[in-house]
Amino acid sequence: MTHVQDRPTTAAPRATGGLGDPLELAARNRPRQRFPFSDKMPLGWYQVAYSDELLPGDVVPLAYWKRDLVLWREADGGDAHLMDAFCAHLGAHLGYGGVVEGDAIRCPFHHWCFDGGGSCVDIPYSDKVNRKAHVGTYPVQEKAGIVWAWFHPNGDEPAWDIPDVPEYADEDYTDYHRFEWTLRSSPQELGENQVDIAHFKYIHGTVVVPELLETHIDGPHSHVRTEHKFDTPIGPQPGHIQSDSYGFGYAVVRFSGIVDTCLVTSCIPIDEEFVHLRFSFMHKKLGDAKADSTVADHLIADIRRQIEEDTPIWEHKAYVDKPALADGDGPFTAYRKYVRQFYAD
Ligand code: FES
Ligand SMILES: [Fe+2]
Repeated sequence: MTHVQDRPTTAAPRATGGLGDPLELAARNRPRQRFPFSDKMPLGWYQVAYSDELLPGDVVPLAYWKRDLVLWREADGGDAHLMDAFCAHLGAHLGYGGVVEGDAIRCPFHHWCFDGGGSCVDIPYSDKVNRKAHVGTYPVQEKAGIVWAWFHPNGDEPAWDIPDVPEYADEDYTDYHRFEWTLRSSPQELGENQVDIAHFKYIHGTVVVPELLETHIDGPHSHVRTEHKFDTPIGPQPGHIQSDSYGFGYAVVRFSGIVDTCLVTSCIPIDEEFVHLRFSFMHKKLGDAKADSTVADHLIADIRRQIEEDTPIWEHKAYVDKPALADGDGPFTAYRKYVRQFYAD
């Protein structure tokens, strides 16, 4: 939406036309500044796809971190690669018409070929490759059925490893139930939701305000454990939620008390205005398929409801730098101090 500043009606005439009125242009381009940090893309590991979405030879255009990207998998079923989208020759987007050949990707425009390290390995109409031609790449790892990519605005190497999610390989757990949303917000704002314990009662209608049992921060790792009363058909039941995050792009949330459930979440910024949020649930199998699907249906309904309840708040709220807090609010100050490390600049 364009905002135009109010102007005095007696203002002296100004030149308009051409590129436009400078004041109006300045007003139109004025950032909304809901979030002072939103133009800084935070570093970390982020989910860019599920592994089974990227078959051998697949090429997928993506846009995250205010960058145009291409994700592709080697034709022999091998490694996945995430690279900047634009060809080092004359800028074609490798994600639109690029073709995987063995362990390299061929540009659709003049058929130059780049390997997974971003180096030019073939120019079909030249005897020599251009050694200076290089496309930017991002470290990629596949873990727990997810393609994770490391982002650092300055291109620094990964600062930590992606922790295992043992439930993914545990046959006692179901496959993922997957959900995703594109929201008008920023990762820090969505992340703050987990320490905002009061909102669970007032937005999500939980029986009581959850009790914070434990918080622990160690470098990029944040651990939060809370006690809840879950609303169930047989009345409120006690349970726990344990959340382990590494930056904004990786969090594993474990629910216990009713059915042991493990939720892998990743929130990745698209640009200053939008994020892509993915939730992947597994829960302990209950012994028969019907019971499993009942639990799954309940989880699906509940998480969708919670996200839908949060969304109007997230999409319109501003970040209050010095919030007026009360006893019973969660550890906002500690959370904000913790997340500072994910902004390189
Ligand atoms: S733009 Fe890619 S080969 Fe020319
Ligand atoms: Fe919420």
